[in-house]
Amino acid sequence: MTDPIEELVQQAQADIAACGDERTLETLRVELLGKKGRVTELLKQLGGMAPDQRKAFGERVNRAKDALSAALESRGATLAESTLAARLAAERIDVTLPGRGEASGGLHPITRTIQRIAEIFGEMGFERVEGPEIEDDFHNFGALNIPEAHPARAMADTFYVLNGERLLRTHTSPVQIRTMQQREKPPIRIICPGRVYRVDSDRTHSPMFHQMEGLYVAEKVSLADLKYDLQTFLSRFFERDIEALFRPSYFPFVEPGADVHIRWTLPDGSWRWLEVLGCGVVHPKVLEAVGIDSEKYSGYAFGMGMERMAMLRYGVDDLRLFFNNDLRFLEQFR
Ligand code: PHE
Repeated sequence: MTDPIEELVQQAQADIAACGDERTLETLRVELLGKKGRVTELLKQLGGMAPDQRKAFGERVNRAKDALSAALESRGATLAESTLAARLAAERIDVTLPGRGEASGGLHPITRTIQRIAEIFGEMGFERVEGPEIEDDFHNFGALNIPEAHPARAMADTFYVLNGERLLRTHTSPVQIRTMQQREKPPIRIICPGRVYRVDSDRTHSPMFHQMEGLYVAEKVSLADLKYDLQTFLSRFFERDIEALFRPSYFPFVEPGADVHIRWTLPDGSWRWLEVLGCGVVHPKVLEAVGIDSEKYSGYAFGMGMERMAMLRYGVDDLRLFFNNDLRFLEQFR
């Protein structure tokens, strides 16, 4: 007859060794060493034994118990290790894989143009401000000396909302008005870039485009200051001496007013005058509309199209390219 303790230990050791996962091993542990486990059952038999038998049997069961505990523990450690190894293998990140070629983004050519122009004027002492794209009649027209029914409004037809109470601004000039209203008194020297809207659409016009407004109001500001500052700016922007022509032009909010043309040489060697911006000496009525004493202060203002400047600087011949968002075009400006 085989010894029951020996038999139990051998069978249990074989089961433990064959056990393939931690959960089954735990079930096995309970089966062997738990309160109702087989080893525990053996110990219970001690009660019915004679004292001399009991001692020897008890010692053997305890040794068996220690042996099985040790076997369970070491198998448990092995299983835990392989579970960890399997997890590490499954969750492994191969940091040596080559990257997927993250492309770096770039700024839109119009954004770059605005930044560049703002930087040049910034160095000349101009502060950058912004204003709303949805304007009211007063700021877009009235305060700029464009009364209702004035023919100049026809040149700047736009989109009206709220029964005509608001409109998409047709130029950045309303920011002149807003800034002068906000400031306590001159000197004021600002540039304001932003989107403007008009009913215009062809190779060189878009219903939405960007302008940069400039305004300088202080004591004794004159047309000479305007010419000097714009000339300085244009040469810095194009990075060469620029010949600029100030040709009289009409804007209700300046007097005198001018269009600035620059002498532009084409690839075939011929040249022509190209209009790049509108400007003038701020009309006294504009200063008065915002409560600035036009006897004491004077100013100049200008407004230029950002798309036009970008087209000239980068040699782009169709303005619509800026808004098609074709990456083949945009990537060239990175
Ligand atoms: N606001 C004018 C336009 O949109 C440009 C301009 C600005 C002209 C300031 C003179 C002075 O055409």
